[in-house]
Amino acid sequence: MGRITGDFAGETVIVTGGASGIGRAVARRFGDAGATVLVADLDPEPNTGGTPTHEAIEEAGGTAAFAETDVTVPADVEAVVEAAREFGGVDVMVNNAGYHAGGPLLDLDVAELRRALAVNVEGVFVGTQVAARDMIDRDEPGSVVNTASISSEVAQFEQVGYDASKGAVKMVTRGSALELAEYGIRVNAVAPGQIATEFVEGWSEEAPAKAASDDLLKPVPLGRAGVPDDLAAAYLYLASEDASYVTGELLFVDGGWQVL
Ligand code: NAI
Repeated sequence: MGRITGDFAGETVIVTGGASGIGRAVARRFGDAGATVLVADLDPEPNTGGTPTHEAIEEAGGTAAFAETDVTVPADVEAVVEAAREFGGVDVMVNNAGYHAGGPLLDLDVAELRRALAVNVEGVFVGTQVAARDMIDRDEPGSVVNTASISSEVAQFEQVGYDASKGAVKMVTRGSALELAEYGIRVNAVAPGQIATEFVEGWSEEAPAKAASDDLLKPVPLGRAGVPDDLAAAYLYLASEDASYVTGELLFVDGGWQVL
């Protein structure tokens, strides 16, 4: 089968949570497509070990930098968007950093819920707001791609805190798309299914077996857990000119999870 490749030469892309997992795959794919990539994360080291994302992009012949960023701190997000001006200004903002608050409703510490809302909702809200203000100031409309989740639509056992946060990501995406359309800024989200990363402890090892049969999560029709590379092209598509009539959309990349 063929493969979609993008051309993002001359464009600057910020990827929050780009040090690891899905964000790392997305950052690397934008780097391969010629973009200048700013990896905005708490720490440059991937949670699986190995070469930091920005260095891997540079080793592959691309252009990238790391910006220490906590997406729950608006000044950090403003600083990375400001840093992007050195490269012409942010064209694509990928709000991907996330926090997993797992646990049953009756036991979940409200502090866990607050943390999930801070990283997943405030992070996406502020990232969208700051990037959009900058695009409007420069009169250079770009696009925003958020990381939602199957949890934006489907409740799962012992995920109520996380589900609440990702449901909100859906509506931040849609509300922002509505308000930013007049500026020519599109806002969309990719909604991953079960992806084998370190997001949930032990999940990267357990995911393949869980995807085949699981008593907590549903089996995945395509019969396997996803990997970060399964997601990357979806982000490039939504960010690209090819998606110029797509806004407020959640693109599910979930192996058919929602079909069942
Ligand atoms: P991961 O744990 O491999 O990567 C998350 C990255 O976000 C890490 O590099 C971490 O340092 C960074 N991060 C966390 N808090 C941050 C903060 N406050 N500021 C800046 N960076 C921060 O996890 P994964 O799986 O790559 O998750 C990425 C996104 O995908 C998250 O939004 C998650 O909710 C979402 N997602 C993941 C799924 C999965 O099955 N792995 C399923 C659906 C959605």
